[in-house]
Amino acid sequence: MTSDSPVFEDLLHEEREFPPSKDFAAQANVRDGSIYERAEADPEGYWEDRAKELDWFTPWKTVMNWEPPHVKWFEGGTLNVSHNCLDRHLDGPRRNKAAFIWEGEDGDVRTVTYLQLHREVCRFANALKDLGISKGDRVAIYLPMMIEATVAMLACARIGAIHSIVFAGFSPDSLSDRINDSECKLLITADGGYRRGQVVALKDAADKALESTHSIEHVVVVKRPVGEPFPCTMQEGRDVWYHDVIRDASPECPAEPMDAEDVLFILYTSGTTGKPKGIVHTTGGYSVVAQTTMQYVFDVHEEDVYWCTADIGWITGHTYVVYGPLQTGATSVIYEGAPNWPGNDRFWELVAKHRVTLFYTAPTAIRAFMKWGDDLPAKHDLSSLRLLGSVGEPINPEAWMWYHRHIGSERCPIVDTWWQTETGGIMITGLPGVTTMKPGCAGPPMPGIAAELVDEKGAVVPHGAGLLAILRPWPSMLRTIWGDDERYVETYFSRFGPEIYVAGDGAKRDKAGDFMVLGRIDDVLNVSGHRIGTMEVESALVDHPAVAESAVVGKTHEVKGQAIAAFVTLVGDREMTPELNDELKAHVAEKIGAIARPDAILYAADLPKTRSGKIMRRLLRDIAEGRALGDTTTLADPAVVDSLRGEYEEKEG
Ligand code: WT7
Repeated sequence: MTSDSPVFEDLLHEEREFPPSKDFAAQANVRDGSIYERAEADPEGYWEDRAKELDWFTPWKTVMNWEPPHVKWFEGGTLNVSHNCLDRHLDGPRRNKAAFIWEGEDGDVRTVTYLQLHREVCRFANALKDLGISKGDRVAIYLPMMIEATVAMLACARIGAIHSIVFAGFSPDSLSDRINDSECKLLITADGGYRRGQVVALKDAADKALESTHSIEHVVVVKRPVGEPFPCTMQEGRDVWYHDVIRDASPECPAEPMDAEDVLFILYTSGTTGKPKGIVHTTGGYSVVAQTTMQYVFDVHEEDVYWCTADIGWITGHTYVVYGPLQTGATSVIYEGAPNWPGNDRFWELVAKHRVTLFYTAPTAIRAFMKWGDDLPAKHDLSSLRLLGSVGEPINPEAWMWYHRHIGSERCPIVDTWWQTETGGIMITGLPGVTTMKPGCAGPPMPGIAAELVDEKGAVVPHGAGLLAILRPWPSMLRTIWGDDERYVETYFSRFGPEIYVAGDGAKRDKAGDFMVLGRIDDVLNVSGHRIGTMEVESALVDHPAVAESAVVGKTHEVKGQAIAAFVTLVGDREMTPELNDELKAHVAEKIGAIARPDAILYAADLPKTRSGKIMRRLLRDIAEGRALGDTTTLADPAVVDSLRGEYEEKEG
């Protein structure tokens, strides 16, 4: 969505305000707004206090060491994330508390306690060691939503191996690119999973990816633990079954003391080039922010049942399905499948069944639920809910109000959380016991976070519109891009110098200091809360033999937020047919993954370019949105846009 979207114009006139209810505020983990001033007066002292919430094997010597644009937090300190997620809960009543409640698409339920999870993680950690994995090695994880995916993460963290999770919806090509970029030694995958009743043949996809990798020595394959196993082939000497390797492994495995700055994981995300960036997060600072935000934003209490609907393939799944909830000793729900399978009320059925109290999802899902009707949530008992969250994209005020009324019964605070793969944890949102929430508005920066609006020159704009920037490092900041520190500096710290982190989003800020985040200002799309680079889709299109040139832009979409519109020119005498159009869409889905499938492919004899040959995406966006065209005077050939527009109107009406 762009800043000229009418929805966001309304925000400046938003007058509805929702202060915390007395009941909520009385029990909240944070009840006193003075925390903001205290954190601002001494940010390092604030973070140091927050770090004390975790178990450290040895204390840190320095809190922060900032050599712009590189930072180190809690240097000299050692800890282990798996220890903080598991071991430290075993001495008290949490030992037998559910760590995860998993539900399969077809309704099977598996519950694992902290003690059981600890044993399983230790066994798998020992198995990984036996397979030759040691500290610093990279391990790729390509798994559906299953408890074993969390075991794999925690087992890596336990022995100091660096995990790189690849969303199971990504294609074999996307998987092999990511494996190759960080030279993973081992891949953990599954025979398959379910999505909308369809079998996802994951091992087959992994096998295809492995045809073009050179670093993988072993593949561990998890057999879906309930229901029918999916047939797959195992390669002798390379592939082993998860259940075989853990069978005789010891349930004791000491957690490796990790330096605060040792890498915990790499997670690839899209940028403005065709090549995804391996975002690097380290151990100490990341854990501190995961811990703090669970306590402060989600207000987690001992008896909560917390459900974040994100897939572990995204950063939200890392921080708020696994590490944050487990560090705080919460019970976290994991659901295997889609929100509309078998019925459009599957989520509400799960909330009612597991008595979910804290619920965190994406605006795209909320907008889909709105379309499916108010009667669906009304059929279920949602009275257990006490807090709702939103993440991944701007939430339009209408969707916010629907969420508030139909899911939260006008009783639950809503936290609209802005953050990124790069930030590791939540950066901007209200504190539910303190902040007055406004529909469509993410709220103030978290305590200790120096998020600001800046103008084109990098000067702070107290209120108005501008670019979202962060003026001080925070503990869970990305440390670099794997193998490409230059790109790290260039992407985030070149526009206004090495002290200012540029997030890539445009935003507005009101007089109360609250942010309304509008969306990306670079060539990155946000489709259903997932980040997709236009260049990635363009490369996938030109990879097809019929395509000569392509340009991809975002187009406002009622449910997805943005949809992908692709403009292509064809080679030689190829002509666009409905079959070719479908084939091109399928080609993109095959090259990248189904999430990148374009909604519309528009064919043109030529693309609008400046005289120096640069494609004018701005005009393509105007065409895709059906808007009046902006300035066309710099076009090399003005006739081109007329023909494109004709094509567009014919297709879209
Ligand atoms: C981009 C980051 C953070 C985890 C999920 C996405 C957009 C995220 C919000 C929000 C408006 C938001 C931004 C950001 N975004 N949350 N609450 N309001 N926009 O992680 O894939 O790294 O994408 O998502 O554009 O830059 P990601």
